[in-house]
Amino acid sequence: MANIVQFENVGLRYGGGAETLSDVSFTLSSGAFYFLTGASGAGKTSLLKLLYLAQRPTRGGIRMFGEDAVTLPRARIPGFRRRIGVVFQDFRLVPHLSAYDNIALPLRVSGVAESDIDAPVREMLAWVGLDQRIEAKPPTLSGGEQQRVAIARAVIGRPEILVADEPTGNVDPDMAERLLHLFDSLNRLGTTVVVATHDFHLLGRIPDARMMRLDKGRLLDPTGSLRFPPTGEGA
Ligand SMILES: Nc1ncnc2c1ncn2[C@@H]1O[C@H](COP(=O)(O)OP(=O)(O)OP(=O)(O)O)[C@@H](O)[C@H]1O
Ligand SMILES: [Mg+2]
Repeated sequence: MANIVQFENVGLRYGGGAETLSDVSFTLSSGAFYFLTGASGAGKTSLLKLLYLAQRPTRGGIRMFGEDAVTLPRARIPGFRRRIGVVFQDFRLVPHLSAYDNIALPLRVSGVAESDIDAPVREMLAWVGLDQRIEAKPPTLSGGEQQRVAIARAVIGRPEILVADEPTGNVDPDMAERLLHLFDSLNRLGTTVVVATHDFHLLGRIPDARMMRLDKGRLLDPTGSLRFPPTGEGA
């Protein structure tokens, strides 16, 4: 499989303190499924921010879609980001838009015709179990419902890369399983998936998933090629 992302000795420092990420090197193979684990504060969200170009590294190299992502001109960042679906740890839904319109947003931004939007949006709403809450606005939804809207919005455009930060942190185990199945289906269609999670229960669910483990800002398996033992919890 070709590499879709390549990090080389990446470091990230916020302000003047110690590095939050140090010497992070890995490649993501196009079409593979990755879990990113590590204790709270280990740097998972920070690494994902580099992946979806919300943050530039302080040092090191990042290549993405065959191009240098560090020196990418600012004007080209939106074009790159349209190829990446993101489920934010804090959802970031548009509060005054309905669940339906939040999910439709990426299609509208990409210029999809209005007549081609309704069917996929309704399909996604059904997938995440929110077909009864189509008109609800995010502030009136529960945390788990908001999370599901955020997931539907991230996957609806069939991104080349899906980055999900604790995407099952607010839902019950049955829904977590269902959402993981959705990611798996998307992965089978060719999307490269990166899921940051604390939930060890999820890790064994995707037998081919590769593990990336962060410890205090350093990656323990630099190639990200270790397979998770299907029975153990030894990640
Ligand atoms: N914008 C920021 N400015 C300064 N420090 C930050 C910023 N964002 C994160 N940090 C620090 O970087 C470290 C890593 O944070 P990060 O959010 O990446 O961890 P995480 O692994 O996602 O944790 P969690 O599991 O709790 O979500 C933490 O010490 C955090 O305080
Ligand atoms: Mg985080």
